[in-house]
Amino acid sequence: MSEKPVDTHDLRRAFGSFATGVTIVTTLDKQGGPCGFTANSFSSVSLDPPLVLVSVAKSAYGLSIFSESKGFAINILAEQQRELSNRFASRGTDKFSGVNRKPGSTGAPILDDVVAWFDCENYQQVDAGDHVILIGKVADYSYNSDAPLGFCRGAYVSFGLPPKMLDLVTSCGHLQVGALIENEDKILLQIGPGGDLKIPMAPTVGDRSQPDSLLGLLDAAGIHVELPFLFAAYNGLDNRYIYYRGELLSIRDVILTEQLHFYDYDEIPWGAIHSEADETMIKRFFREREVDNFGVYIGDYQAGDIHPLPQVS
Ligand SMILES: Cc1cc2nc3c(=O)[nH]c(=O)nc-3n(C[C@H](O)[C@H](O)[C@H](O)COP(=O)(O)O)c2cc1C
Repeated sequence: MSEKPVDTHDLRRAFGSFATGVTIVTTLDKQGGPCGFTANSFSSVSLDPPLVLVSVAKSAYGLSIFSESKGFAINILAEQQRELSNRFASRGTDKFSGVNRKPGSTGAPILDDVVAWFDCENYQQVDAGDHVILIGKVADYSYNSDAPLGFCRGAYVSFGLPPKMLDLVTSCGHLQVGALIENEDKILLQIGPGGDLKIPMAPTVGDRSQPDSLLGLLDAAGIHVELPFLFAAYNGLDNRYIYYRGELLSIRDVILTEQLHFYDYDEIPWGAIHSEADETMIKRFFREREVDNFGVYIGDYQAGDIHPLPQVS
């Protein structure tokens, strides 16, 4: 049977329809010097044992270094690391100059500010056409909730806020970030000094070590959450508001009931919620939760539309 000749440019374009993240794969050469390249062929393979893969072009300068190394690290890039991605996709010899990093347990460089990394021991190498598949056994890893960089059809894409919503948040200094956090059909509300109830809110999402951020406020109450979804973005009279939606991951100690409390829909004392926007959002949250079909509200405090969850385009 005769094979149809492959138009490799066209096939590359077709493969590129698959949206991926972007990684920088790193290792050390025999002299202990760092080596790395940008790759989007990363994939998780197995949980037990914990395996990942990445495929390296046989034409890559780093191939022999990777094949002979005892391990490698996969660094999953954050949204703001496009420049780093471009740098490691080039043939330069000095790719690591000025790049902050620390060695993983295999010695492979773990880059600062990535959204996740996996430090891997070489497990298996598979010869595959014009690439070699490196399969690594995960020896150590870490991750955070920052927005990852995406790649699709030859271009970087954002998995974070779509441009329309980004305009909304970057064009004004006064931002308030709220979170609709659920746990077992209940929602977390913050109790103010006068007993009024509101959706937990702070000027930034921040991280758990920042006391004045949303995650810091929750962490102070022993609450660890994940906030992967956008729920609303709108202009208020003085502030602009972004609301995320997510789930409780764990409660460290006893929850500080004076400040934060999970409520069933039927338990909510609606009279204590003084913000009309909060009341509308809580009601929408429970409505959409019931049918498991969430949208994103975009507009201002008086009128807006509910959009489907942002898709990569
Ligand atoms: C988004 C993106 C993804 C890439 N993915 C891969 C990949 O999975 N495997 C690969 O071998 N090269 C990939 N490349 C190309 C390499 O990064 C590029 O060829 C680099 O120069 C290889 O480095 P080296 O030749 O210094 O080893 C990718 C490039 C970009 C921009």
